[in-house]
This record gives sequence, C-alpha cells and structure tokens, in this order.
Amino acid sequence: MTIQWFPGHMTRAKRQIQEKLKLIDIAIELLDARVPLSSRNPMVDDILQGKPRLIVLNKSDLADPRATEQWMAYFAHEGHECVAVDSSTGTRVNEIPIKAKEILHEKIAKQIAKGMNPRAVRGLIVGIPNVGKSTLINRLAGRNIAATGDKPGVTKGQQWIKVGTEMELLDTPGILWPKFEDQLVGYRLAMTGAIREQILNIDDIAFFAVRELAGRYWKVLKERYELDNAPSDPEDNEQIVQVMEDIGRKRGCLMGGGRVDLEKASGIILRDLRAGKLGRITLEAPYDDMPAREV
Ligand code: G4P
Repeated sequence: MTIQWFPGHMTRAKRQIQEKLKLIDIAIELLDARVPLSSRNPMVDDILQGKPRLIVLNKSDLADPRATEQWMAYFAHEGHECVAVDSSTGTRVNEIPIKAKEILHEKIAKQIAKGMNPRAVRGLIVGIPNVGKSTLINRLAGRNIAATGDKPGVTKGQQWIKVGTEMELLDTPGILWPKFEDQLVGYRLAMTGAIREQILNIDDIAFFAVRELAGRYWKVLKERYELDNAPSDPEDNEQIVQVMEDIGRKRGCLMGGGRVDLEKASGIILRDLRAGKLGRITLEAPYDDMPAREV
C-alpha cells in the first residue's frame, strides 16, 4: 500500500516513533538491501534521537551479495552494527536479537553489576512502507501479528511480542517516509515495488529501470531477454527505448503494424525485476568502485 505523505503525516509519524522510543532500548532500522539509500528516511538520525540502533538490510535474497557486503562494511564504518536478512524465509533473522544484545552489552553489564536481573531487550522496528516491517515482525514472532500496510497516524494498543527469551518487540512498527522529493529516489523505490504504479507511470518506471540496468547489469538484461545490441551509451534515452522495444519484440508485445506495445513490455520488465527473475540486483553502491557483477 502506498501512503501519501503530507507534512501533517510526517509530523505525526515522527511523534509516534518518538513516543515509542521511550519504551524501548534499541531501534531496528529496516532498509531494502537493493536500495539502502533510497529506502532510508532522510531524518532518521534526528528522529531516533541517539537511541542505540541496529541496521537491518532486508530483502537481501533479492540483492547483489557483493553489494550487500559493501553496504555492511559501509555501515560498520559509519559506526552502526548491521545485519542482512531475508524476512520472507527467515534467513539470518535470528541474528537480530543476538546483535541487539551485543549493542546493549554495556547497559546489560551495568544492570548485572547492580545485582539486577537483566530484562529482555526491548526493540522497535522502523522503516518506510513496504520495506518488510510486518513480514519481519511476523518472522521474529513466529506467527502472524502485524497487519501489513498500516498507516501513519493510526494508533492501536501497543503490545510486546516475545522473540525468544531475550528480546521483546513492539507489535506495531514505526513508519517512516522516504526522501521522495528526490526523483531518483522515487524511481528506485518504484522499481523495487515500494511505490506503486498509480503514482508513477509504468513506462517511465520501466524506462528508468532499463537505463539503470543497462550499465552495471547489462549482462543480466541480455541473457534474460536474449538481446543482441548493447547500448553504446546507457545515458542515451533513445538507445534505452530501443532496448525496451527489443525486449518487447522478444516477448511478443506487439500491436497493429508491428509496433511494440511498450506498456506491456514495461509490465514484463518490472514484474521480472521485482520477482528477482533478473537475478540479484542492487541499484545503489556505497562506494563508486563497486565491482561489476559477474554473471
Ligand atoms: P511493510 O510492513 O514494511 O509495509 O512491508 P511488508 O512486510 O508488508 O512487506 C512488503 C512486501 O515485501 C511483501 O510482499 C513482503 O512479502 C515482501 N517482503 C518482505 N520481506 C521480504 C524479504 O526479505 N524478501 C523478499 N523477497 N520479500 C520480502 P507483497 O508482494 O507486497 O505481499 P505478499 O505477496 O508477500 O503478500
């Protein structure tokens, strides 16, 4: 579900998270491993007010593993603990409570030194819509808890969910907004399916996707759609439309007069991309020298 973010929504969303911060020991900032920058809220440092934080790169099953490693190193360099998970299958989600305890070890050690029995670590998952918050909460809880697609400004009774014996999570995640004033961010989120087609035109999203992929991931496109002619300049719009038409022709997206039905071709490209059929793809690199993916 796509949320229309207006200034009032943002203020309410921020306030709701800050209310919840009083209840927790650690924030779990969920990002999409394919677009760690675009899926990040621009004000997250300000909103989390210095609360201990674990960064979780979700959907890592769909991301380029080498890029994910680079992102993990990048966040470590920024002073953040980070884990990469796949909430849809549960791969590595068990590292979340372990890492959370590690981050809070000093606080826990102090409680022990005072003779206190340390209670379970309390966490809150925060992230933009569609990043996988509900899926992760359900996965950590081992059952269906969170309703997907909840909205900012809609509150319900807070409950703690037990994650094993050593962690508790608030059942409603904190919903953040993306940096949507940046057009590049909008298109990258649309490519991953975080922003739906009602907001951006499907042909435009697919055009943008092909332009992004024609550079670093050309081999992927070439193999999936059996393309012959690589664009000599992936920044050249006409060449990108040409690639889209080639894909359309290969997939039988033809209209009268042999013209390519670009909207149909666009739908195929986006469905393939979002379902991981083009392979594991990351659209953003923390460093410019990210090596090209070997296919
Ligand atoms: P949200 O609460 O942050 O808004 O996100 P939500 O959990 O609803 O997840 C959004 C979509 O992302 C869902 O797909 C969900 O299955 C998918 N997803 C979440 N985590 C992962 C992951 O680690 N890997 C992959 N591959 N997908 C993930 P959907 O198509 O919107 O719904 P559905 O078809 O699963 O019902």
